[in-house]
Amino acid sequence: MKICFLTSECVPFVKTGGLADVSGVLPISLSRLGCEMNVFLPLYNVIDIDRFDLKKLSAFNHAFVSIADKMKNYSVHHLLKNGINYYFIASKEYFHRESIYTNDADEDERYIFFQHCVLNILQRMQYKCDIIHINDWQSALIPELIKTYYAWDNLFNKVKVLFTIHNIAYQGKFSKESVIKANLPNEKFFGGGTYELYGDFNFMKIGIVASHLINTVSPTYAKEILTQEMGTGLDGVLRTRANDITGILNGIDNTVWNPQTDKNIPKNYNFSSLKDKEINKSELQKFAGLPQDKNIPLLGIVSRLAWQKGFELFEPFINNLMTRNVQMIVLGEGETKYVEFFKNVSQKYPEKLYFLNGYNNKLAHQITAGADIFLMPSRYEPCGLNQMYSLNYGTIPIVRKTGGLADTVADITELPNQGNGFVFDAFEAKQFYNKIIFALSAYNNKNLWLKMQQRGMESDFSWDKSAEEYLKLYKRMI
Ligand code: ADP
Ligand code: GLC
Repeated sequence: MKICFLTSECVPFVKTGGLADVSGVLPISLSRLGCEMNVFLPLYNVIDIDRFDLKKLSAFNHAFVSIADKMKNYSVHHLLKNGINYYFIASKEYFHRESIYTNDADEDERYIFFQHCVLNILQRMQYKCDIIHINDWQSALIPELIKTYYAWDNLFNKVKVLFTIHNIAYQGKFSKESVIKANLPNEKFFGGGTYELYGDFNFMKIGIVASHLINTVSPTYAKEILTQEMGTGLDGVLRTRANDITGILNGIDNTVWNPQTDKNIPKNYNFSSLKDKEINKSELQKFAGLPQDKNIPLLGIVSRLAWQKGFELFEPFINNLMTRNVQMIVLGEGETKYVEFFKNVSQKYPEKLYFLNGYNNKLAHQITAGADIFLMPSRYEPCGLNQMYSLNYGTIPIVRKTGGLADTVADITELPNQGNGFVFDAFEAKQFYNKIIFALSAYNNKNLWLKMQQRGMESDFSWDKSAEEYLKLYKRMI
């Protein structure tokens, strides 16, 4: 089966969040299952062409697509790795910016351009694929472009499109001018039509209406997005396609996130050498300038600092928490108000809380290995990867019962025979705080703690099962 997989970020080339992790490993697992995989992404200026040995394809020296009737040049860099063809779409005009996602006035155009280039590349290569697998709003126009602008081309006649929604809240909402930029028929933009939602041109709505099948990244999130509370305006549209929506839990890359082999941590360990986890804790405390005491429970956070992640919940109780025998390490970047919050707390309690404002992959691994407890109080969480990483590293998660967190973490009080962490229900500071306090006391119950660590470390979150689910969806479409 021939698959084209479109993504706006992909490990190891460029990453801001979990989509990159998924894009980095799902195609590899699918290729092992016999799929011929082609991955397409923009060549942002942060991608190091030399380091990855990307080769410019001379066949695309004079390639262009038309965006709002203007010819726009592009070129293509290529890499064959792990049996997968990676195609990087290059354009200084669109992809050399301060960050990979922007608030620039042409943000819509950047990804319209990307999608036209992909279809244009397939035409120029005369590559007849079976499935185009699109991810999030940045590639959501593909099925509609195939039905309209490219309808004349038999190459796409039988192509089926799978749309994976990683986060329903980021929809790609722009003004009506996007219709023209995308070369889509203007008359299809009207209130309640395929292109329109609350007056905006909405990329994600188009993906939902026009794709053959849709999935999200956990079974619980697949149900949640059908509700008004969680569907962020798209629940009505999603309900019209309820029979075509499934939830497939993301996996994790065991070659990268594995305490036995992780090259980013001071000391490798497994369940039978848990003593060595303490070395990671001690080194982490040293790095953060916190007292190096193995008996003080250490709480960890690695996250985008965004509304979704629920960090407001700390505000009412952070001072109380800081008076307890506890330490905390926070790694994150994002919205100013959360940055200021953690910065202030770290200045007020330098012996208790260390905050690093930034993106740091190595430290992310070190926190996952060195912390005792990992915190994810998310408002909503389509899947979440960090709780799975933590579980596999013997670091006990405290999570809110939502999306993929609800599907992967079982509360030890609710389910004593399978509990692997702590789960609170309502998005309320009091509930979160109570769980933290409970976890801090459970930390002293070494037998119980060990049992939870064992369950987490033995659980199999590898991609194998999930990749097979994707393969089933592909087969169902063709
Ligand atoms: P989301 O995609 O919503 O951000 P996920 O839990 O799916 O959430 O994935 C987040 C990924 O990004 C994880 O691999 C996590 O370790 C990583 N990450 C997030 N913030 C940072 C950061 N500041 N530094 C390093 N890695 C980070
Ligand atoms: C999104 C979600 C996250 C999910 C990731 C990968 O960024 O916020 O929960 O794990 O996509 O699917």
